[in-house]
Amino acid sequence: MSDALRTLIEALERDDALAEPARLRERIEALDRLDAWMPVAGEWMWRVQAIQRKLEAANATEYEAVRLAIRQGRGREAMRHRWRDGDGAASVCGDAYDWLDEWVAGVLPHGTPAEAEALPPEMVFYQPTPARHVFDLLDRLQLGGHDTLVDLGAGLGHVPLLAAICSDARCLGIEIEHAYVESARRCARDLHLANAHFVRGDAREADFGIGSVFYLYTPFTGTILREVLDALRCEAARRTFRVCSFGPCTAVLAAESWLAADDEPRSDRVAIFRAQRPSSPR
Ligand SMILES: C[S@@+](CC[C@H](N)C(=O)[O-])C[C@H]1O[C@@H](n2cnc3c(N)ncnc32)[C@H](O)[C@@H]1O
Repeated sequence: MSDALRTLIEALERDDALAEPARLRERIEALDRLDAWMPVAGEWMWRVQAIQRKLEAANATEYEAVRLAIRQGRGREAMRHRWRDGDGAASVCGDAYDWLDEWVAGVLPHGTPAEAEALPPEMVFYQPTPARHVFDLLDRLQLGGHDTLVDLGAGLGHVPLLAAICSDARCLGIEIEHAYVESARRCARDLHLANAHFVRGDAREADFGIGSVFYLYTPFTGTILREVLDALRCEAARRTFRVCSFGPCTAVLAAESWLAADDEPRSDRVAIFRAQRPSSPR
């Protein structure tokens, strides 16, 4: 076993205050570092397991407290408090996951969803938007009670769930995988989120008339993305709305003449576009 790991274990054993609520991020990062070193043998294994139990118990207490706050309608403050605890928008870019994802996974009572089915070509498998990007997006969107956010290809529903917790907007997830939809619905019910809804279906058949904000974390590519963008473009002839994207599909959206970006679009931060009346029909 390395000296670095021995030093880490001894430091964590000495640090009684690590279980305090304010030190959640340090606990999550310490658990990650221990995981990266596993497995260790003999007496050291028992010592690592004791530390893990202590830190996980402290985290579980925090997660339950946040769930209670959400059920009582105080979720927005609880969420914002932790998001502010992070490095803020300055370090939002990039697609890696971090401690905020661990925290969100701990708070949202998903359980393990049933196995998803294999997807046809052009449909992209599930991967959640990193939590700091969701919070960054919510900060920039400033959703109000008049808004309806629609996540096209919602997966386990993190984006609509977090938006429903942090705003009064109506939040809708459309997802093709039955198991994910069921899991997201359970989560919304468990957290008493009356403004979060999940529909099983193909995004191509969505009612594009209801959203004031559409979100796409590259859920599909090629002809499916084209079909959905064409439907949104038709909708833009009638009214204005925003379209937000993350990942490779941002480059496709940036090339649409009827979408105007709020800032220079980049693939490693959520891009926000405003739909404008198309100049002529295609
Ligand atoms: C990259 S994940 C994004 C998940 C979620 N939007 C998020 O950001 O956390 C893409 C999701 O889109 C779903 N998907 C793919 N094609 C779809 C389609 N045609 N209609 C609805 N959902 C689709 C996949 O099952 C997957 O859950």
